[in-house]
Amino acid sequence: MPDELLRYRPQFPILDRTTYLISHSLGAMPRDVEESLHHYTDLWNTRGVRAWEDEWWMLAAQVGDEIGSLFNAPQGSVACLQNVTTCQATVASCFDFSSPRNKVVYTDLNLPSVMHFWEAQRARGARVVMVPSDDTIHVNTQRLLDAIDEETLLVPISHVIFRSAFIQDVEAIVEKAHRVGAYVLLDSFQATGTLPFDVQELNVDFCTGGVLKCLCGGPGTAYLYVRPDLATKLEPTFYRTRF
Ligand SMILES: Cc1ncc(COP(=O)(O)O)c(C=O)c1O
Repeated sequence: MPDELLRYRPQFPILDRTTYLISHSLGAMPRDVEESLHHYTDLWNTRGVRAWEDEWWMLAAQVGDEIGSLFNAPQGSVACLQNVTTCQATVASCFDFSSPRNKVVYTDLNLPSVMHFWEAQRARGARVVMVPSDDTIHVNTQRLLDAIDEETLLVPISHVIFRSAFIQDVEAIVEKAHRVGAYVLLDSFQATGTLPFDVQELNVDFCTGGVLKCLCGGPGTAYLYVRPDLATKLEPTFYRTRF
């Protein structure tokens, strides 16, 4: 097994010069990236506007399927967007926070920028409930489950906590949320590529993450999985598709 892993080292030139331990922040650049970027600029340069039809229109869907295969998402259920916050904003735009079921419940160990987004949804009527941790390392699962009630609309949680690598009990959270009629939005940024998981088995409603860390994909691309039966029902107002 170690020998098998060592075979990957030459694929990451920075490893010749550096002990690289920060993939949870920005992954080491794979050798092939240079060639791929060259292909991108070459296509733009030689094909001009025809690059869209040649390759670019379908690229986001193709990359979405490739990313989705890492967590068993059905083909066509993963879209690529710019960052996780935009993915979460797309999900939030499907919901109306003016009804009694308007609670958004999460823990204070979510990524701060994601929490800032949900905090801002108070202006749209969301009642945000942030469940505190005791030690900033572990999520108190029972405390989180107790906060999810019949007035809860959404539970946007981190799969692996960025600060401590604590792995949340997603099964228990999905079970409680679905029992009371709430949706679970799983932020798997720190899980994809480090922890095997299956969105269909976990039965999460949405899943988001990005590719720049342990997937070594560089900045600028994030993914949004939507449970296929929900995708046909929900309409994001962020991207109106029907006029
Ligand atoms: C768990 C988690 N969610 C989200 C993000 C980043 O979100 P965004 O793509 O909106 O910058 C990170 C990056 O550190 C993260 O670790």
